[in-house]
Amino acid sequence: MSEAERVPPGVDPTTPSPARIYDYVLGGTHNFAVDRAAAERIGAQTPDLQDAAWVNRSFHQRAARWLAAERGISQFIDLGSGLPVPGNTHDVVQAVEPRARVLYVDIDAMVRAYAAELLADDGTTAVITADLRDPDSVLGDPELRGLIDFSQPAALLVTAVLQFVSDEADPWGLIERYVSMLAPGSYLVLSHVTYEGLPPSLVQTGRDVYARTAGGIYPRSRADVERFFTGLEIVPPYEGAEPAVTHIGLWGAEDPDMADSDGSRWWFGAVARRP
Ligand SMILES: C[S@@+](CC[C@H](N)C(=O)[O-])C[C@H]1O[C@@H](n2cnc3c(N)ncnc32)[C@H](O)[C@@H]1O
Repeated sequence: MSEAERVPPGVDPTTPSPARIYDYVLGGTHNFAVDRAAAERIGAQTPDLQDAAWVNRSFHQRAARWLAAERGISQFIDLGSGLPVPGNTHDVVQAVEPRARVLYVDIDAMVRAYAAELLADDGTTAVITADLRDPDSVLGDPELRGLIDFSQPAALLVTAVLQFVSDEADPWGLIERYVSMLAPGSYLVLSHVTYEGLPPSLVQTGRDVYARTAGGIYPRSRADVERFFTGLEIVPPYEGAEPAVTHIGLWGAEDPDMADSDGSRWWFGAVARRP
């Protein structure tokens, strides 16, 4: 998007937003100068920013495709879905199961503005603008209720989102609440930015950059991320691996050594089944 870009209603182009920063790093066009400057401040410290973003996006896509292809999941709730990118969730899962339904949820007005790019035109997708910290609103939304059948297994995708939710908002309790709505045999796909193993100066720059966004950022430890999977059955991330929360580049990897890139080490995550 150029500087002659239009500013959709409800969007503040002078304050960076997580959705637009991520869009820029992935090579998207739904961002403003303030978002690009934010991303470049982090990028000035590390060559791994783009790799980290793509590692996360590919984990999201691989896990969603696997659930559709290998576990027969045909309904997906994509919480904190982000702006349209090549390979949106419905593109990926409908390539496997054309009748799969995808409900996108995001707090960002920019996502609402470009929702049409996300939507398939056959009624199999919907986008709602909501704050995941308000599960009553999300779960009671008529669009969600019209698309998702909670008596059947579904997948809850929460990738690269919960680092924007503070401890005070109890992200663990929120995930427990969402998962409790899902039928047995449903899945949680979750990734989360960490600080463990990363240079403290880089982590601090990230905190400084995101402090200028509406909500800040809260990188967490592996143990913190493991808590999201309490009571769930973690899927082994690759053949021969133990079922465990790992760096997400490893998930579904044919060659775990190759997949263990520096960008992968920004994240912990897993795919897990609700028994
Ligand atoms: C880094 S992007 C990740 C997008 C996508 N899930 C992925 O992994 O490729 C984080 C997204 O979470 C959204 N988000 C952050 N806090 C949220 C909240 N409280 N409720 C809903 N969405 C939120 C942001 O607007 C942004 O689009």
